[in-house]
Amino acid sequence: MSSELLFLSEPEMIKAGGLDMEMCLSAVEEMYRLIHRGDYIMGGPSLNEHGIRLVFPETSSFPDMPLAGPDRRFMAMIAYVGGRYNVCGCKWYGSNRANLEKGLPRSNHLVIVNDSDTGMPLCAMVGNLVSAMRTGAVPGIAAKYLARDGAGVLGLVGAGVINHATLMGMVHTMPDLRLVKVYDIVAEKSRSFSKEMAEAFGVRVEAVGSLEDAVVGSDVVHVAASGKNPPHLRTEWLSDDVLIELSAGGKLDDDFLFGANLVMDNYAMHDVWYDTDRIDVPSFEVVRLVREGKLSREQDIIEMGAVVEGAAANRVKNGRPTIFNAQGMPVYDVSFAYDIYQRALRQGNGIKLPLWDAPHWV
Ligand SMILES: NC(=O)c1ccc[n+]([C@@H]2O[C@H](COP(=O)([O-])OP(=O)(O)OC[C@H]3O[C@@H](n4cnc5c(N)ncnc54)[C@H](O)[C@@H]3O)[C@@H](O)[C@H]2O)c1
Repeated sequence: MSSELLFLSEPEMIKAGGLDMEMCLSAVEEMYRLIHRGDYIMGGPSLNEHGIRLVFPETSSFPDMPLAGPDRRFMAMIAYVGGRYNVCGCKWYGSNRANLEKGLPRSNHLVIVNDSDTGMPLCAMVGNLVSAMRTGAVPGIAAKYLARDGAGVLGLVGAGVINHATLMGMVHTMPDLRLVKVYDIVAEKSRSFSKEMAEAFGVRVEAVGSLEDAVVGSDVVHVAASGKNPPHLRTEWLSDDVLIELSAGGKLDDDFLFGANLVMDNYAMHDVWYDTDRIDVPSFEVVRLVREGKLSREQDIIEMGAVVEGAAANRVKNGRPTIFNAQGMPVYDVSFAYDIYQRALRQGNGIKLPLWDAPHWV
């Protein structure tokens, strides 16, 4: 029995919808519904693991072994997604912030979609845009459900790929968006980002000179900064009903957490992660406070799936700040990649790669 998989290069996956933000937003929203219903599985004994991380040591006696560096890791992220998808998949990537100096993307991804029954690979695609787009769609969906009515000012921290995609998502989900302020520790990046984004989305985008300027007066703040200097959002800068979205490391004052609506993309994943990978991401502060009994998982933590399914009515209190923690889940990658794959099949797009004419050993 001959078999083949469809390979999509970056141009081919773009042709099949890799930059279709509406399709991506819809896949992410559907994932929250499946998560709420429990119709998904991620890796590990908890069935909720973000992925398996490979990091390099600070020093090594092997001269060729890579050493630790900012945002330097390999990661395998696996998931089964149910509902209309009913497939398994894996996002496999390597990340190294030093790539930017070589003119390469910080992280480089391959996404594979498999038949959930036979395990046969159906499709493999260059996944940089799958990953970036879904990471941008996540805060977009959160803004749709959690931002205050009429939210019009967006503060972006970090002028990289993820905030590019985030703005793409927010343009769809913040109907009153009138001003975007962007701050990057590298001033030139803020300037080029604001020029490019204003042209791309026809919205006013201002490069600002400090973190404080990006945060003060913003209705929604999204943090996607890479590297070793996570931005510290000071309580006095934040308005009473701000929505803060953390897709990457950012510091908030402990007291601020106690007075806020705490929404998580999937608390169970953060809980496992806390035990396996103690790195400095803000969800760990939330998990720590729950473990110490200072916050209650049942009373204080709100699941995004419950918000999307309408099962968290009255739990997100108006007039309070809301913090949305999203550290990335493979279910988004697999579902968006599956939708791209389906469109590519309809288009007759991509390269069919033979696996075998007949399997050598059965
Ligand atoms: N939650 C998720 O699902 C998810 C997915 C992908 C990436 N990420 C994370 O998002 C972050 C951004 O990713 P990216 O691909 O856009 O990276 P990038 O390197 O392209 O851009 C990040 C930008 O942040 C800037 N920066 C660093 N420290 C800063 C600070 N303190 N204040 C302001 N700007 C600062 C850098 O100069 C850089 O321009 C990374 O940490 C990455 O690991 C999260």
